[in-house]
Amino acid sequence: MAVQEKLVAQSYRLGGTALHDWDYLVQEDRAHRLIYTDPAIFEAEMTQIFGGTWTYLAHESEIPNANDFITRRLGLRPLIIVRDAEGKIRALYNRCTHRGTTLCRWDKGNSKSFQCPYHGWNFLNNGRLRGVPWPDGYAGDMRDPKYNLAQVPRVESYRGFIFGTLNLDALPLAEHLGPIATVIDEWLDRNPGGRVVVCEANRFRFKANWKLAYDNSCDGYHVAYSHRSLLETENRFAGENAKGMSYYRDSPDTQPMYMRYTGRGNHYKDKRPNLEKRPGGLWALESAHPGMEHYEADFISRYGDRAFSLLDLAGSEPVNINVFPNLSLLGNHIQVFEPVSVDETNAIWYGTMIVDDGSIGADGVRDINALRMRTQEGFPNFGEVDDIANFEQIQRGLLAVEDEWVYMHRGLGIPDRVKTNDDGTITAPATDEAFMREHFKEWKRLMQTRANLAIQRKP
Ligand code: FES
Ligand SMILES: [Fe+2]
Repeated sequence: MAVQEKLVAQSYRLGGTALHDWDYLVQEDRAHRLIYTDPAIFEAEMTQIFGGTWTYLAHESEIPNANDFITRRLGLRPLIIVRDAEGKIRALYNRCTHRGTTLCRWDKGNSKSFQCPYHGWNFLNNGRLRGVPWPDGYAGDMRDPKYNLAQVPRVESYRGFIFGTLNLDALPLAEHLGPIATVIDEWLDRNPGGRVVVCEANRFRFKANWKLAYDNSCDGYHVAYSHRSLLETENRFAGENAKGMSYYRDSPDTQPMYMRYTGRGNHYKDKRPNLEKRPGGLWALESAHPGMEHYEADFISRYGDRAFSLLDLAGSEPVNINVFPNLSLLGNHIQVFEPVSVDETNAIWYGTMIVDDGSIGADGVRDINALRMRTQEGFPNFGEVDDIANFEQIQRGLLAVEDEWVYMHRGLGIPDRVKTNDDGTITAPATDEAFMREHFKEWKRLMQTRANLAIQRKP
């Protein structure tokens, strides 16, 4: 039987609507510096946003077998994401119910139970307290469910992506994702068997607020400037035929790429209209980056006519899919933002591999994955250092107390530029800031709402 617990004693900072006038801090065309710099707002976000809405936790391919686990976070809460002995995916709080220490100190592993390093309480991987050392020292009943591990009450997957929320009233995940799920489908379905598996990660930590990364996730305005050296590197040897990131040159406002906001803070930037629809079209857009040419030549000599459709599987999918508040599918990466403090964030780029569904063969899959690793070392991963430099410099700039606002009004007020579609989604040129204005409406909605949050101790 589920035991649900509501939060009782809270920090005075978690005042919800009482904390600030959110309508003043986030306006149609601008946001106040405090939302990036105020520790009290950050603390409220860790409950209202990371807890109040569906948040990405992990990918099912990271825990493929019964008893597999990985340690992750939901906001600042340490979690163990586990596929329990019966195959059910759970998000256990990585926090011993005795005196509160983290229970599991490993990044990942396979275990039917977790033993606390402090006094040895032992928990099954479904969260139930299994036993304590020298139980005669306790007068009460140690089978009381209050000693079971806390867990996230709502954990659901969408095609391998595991999300969790503490909000008992949240919509079912697929409904919550809405139209962005279709774009996730497209991202997956170009791969054999319609799936990918997570391999290793490239990890960054930067000294800036987590929202600065999300504000950049759909930004097509900065690319030609912030990533100029990358753009020049990619195009160095290609002369007039340069593809690379060439759609950001000249006037990116009028390129066929676009951004679409799909609701609930989610959006994507779609560069696929730049693709030539033919085998090798994606690879041609990506182009063999300098130093990568011999891989391409090797594919052509070994696979003949099939080479270009195989090379497409190594190329980066030219769409940035952003699922509020912490997930971006960028190229072939699964990128996750982890808040650390008001001015510190982890950005983790998980690489992905394709799997053999019989259509390509083991050798082809191996070769594609090897080349896929090379492309994942290139853009956009390689561009992250440019972006992080901007985030850190913004955080510095925002220390100027009297200069209060950041602006996000690109495209606002220009007739026919930002379009609301029949399905309620919003499209605009990829260089507009409409995505940011829209995800801040969702941010504000969550900060203003007293959500129905709880944990459970269900074994
Ligand atoms: S804190 Fe875990 S057993 Fe004491
Ligand atoms: Fe960037």
